[in-house]
Amino acid sequence: MQVIIFDNAQHVAENAAEWVAELINKKSKPVIGLATGSTPISLYQELVNKHKAGQLSFSNTTSFNLDEYLGIDEKNEQSYRHFMNHNLFDHVDIDKSNTFLPTCNQGENPRKQGLAYEDKISQAGGVDLQILGIGANGHIGFNEPTSSLASRTRIKTLTQQTLEDNSRLFSENEFQPTLAVTMGIATILDARYVLLMATGKNKAKSVNNMITGPLSAACPASALQLHENTIVLLDQEAASELADKEYYIWANKQNQKIHQEFGLYHNY
Ligand code: F6R
Repeated sequence: MQVIIFDNAQHVAENAAEWVAELINKKSKPVIGLATGSTPISLYQELVNKHKAGQLSFSNTTSFNLDEYLGIDEKNEQSYRHFMNHNLFDHVDIDKSNTFLPTCNQGENPRKQGLAYEDKISQAGGVDLQILGIGANGHIGFNEPTSSLASRTRIKTLTQQTLEDNSRLFSENEFQPTLAVTMGIATILDARYVLLMATGKNKAKSVNNMITGPLSAACPASALQLHENTIVLLDQEAASELADKEYYIWANKQNQKIHQEFGLYHNY
């Protein structure tokens, strides 16, 4: 894992935008895996700014989101489809027919829907760069603790902690879904590059567990230890419980020289 620590959350977003922009400019048909939640909102803002400045076009980009709630319509403001339209798709030149979220409507077979989503990703050529956040409990996507490290796209029940963490986004009498369709951990590990962003003190523990803790379903993000090209972008607060912080700061200085010479995707 390449761990990069920034002064603040805005610098995390700016660097994440560099990774996305370089990938999109490098590939003729880039495929990006997208996340929702509070963390990537400032990344999407940066991407919109780059697009508006004429530096970035999404016209050839295909996207696959990590997850979507079950039991609410995509027109509902709480749906992740709505989130993506509102924060990114409506403001850039992406063809919305090339943007996908995993869904499973009433009456549909969840297993078939999950496999169909995996097929769609394969047909697009696989995910080049997967954007991730991390839950305070170490989840990635909605792969809650004890999710199989070999899991594929399927329905998951959200934990009480995740429901509480996300309740801030729902008003008092609003329906808060307890189920979601999510890419599995194995699905995420298939991406060629993974870019995980974490900001804020409440992520510090899960960040340390992910990077230095045992590889364990108790911290689903620790599965990224098995991934060849994972980049972790942290602000100071999210890095505050990281063992061996000085090593990452030093290593990143060396990495910057490699990036300058060979580009961010020198291992592609
Ligand atoms: C979002 C997702 C989740 C979030 C995580 C962090 O699509 O899959 O894993 O990335 O819950 O959420 P925030 O960024 O709101 O702290």
